[in-house]
Amino acid sequence: MPRITNQKTGESIEAKEGEMIRNACEELGVPFCCTNGICGTCMIDVIEGEENLSELTQNEIDMERDKKHRLACQCQIKNGDVKIEF
Ligand code: FES
Repeated sequence: MPRITNQKTGESIEAKEGEMIRNACEELGVPFCCTNGICGTCMIDVIEGEENLSELTQNEIDMERDKKHRLACQCQIKNGDVKIEF
């Protein structure tokens, strides 16, 4: 199963392939607010594994995010690990 890891603490959470990463990120301590890609509260830096996340959503593009700088409420995970910082 793919894993999402907090770069700072080393803590990691398993996620299912195709799952939104929101719940795992919440468990790792990422703050959320709107959960709709509007407020920018859930900004994360992707340290490794950006290729294992879904494509940028229009909301992320509108917020000038890129593959290394995502909104955690907008991403699904593919079959591979991701390391984040926030
Ligand atoms: S929680 Fe508002 S943009 Fe993700």
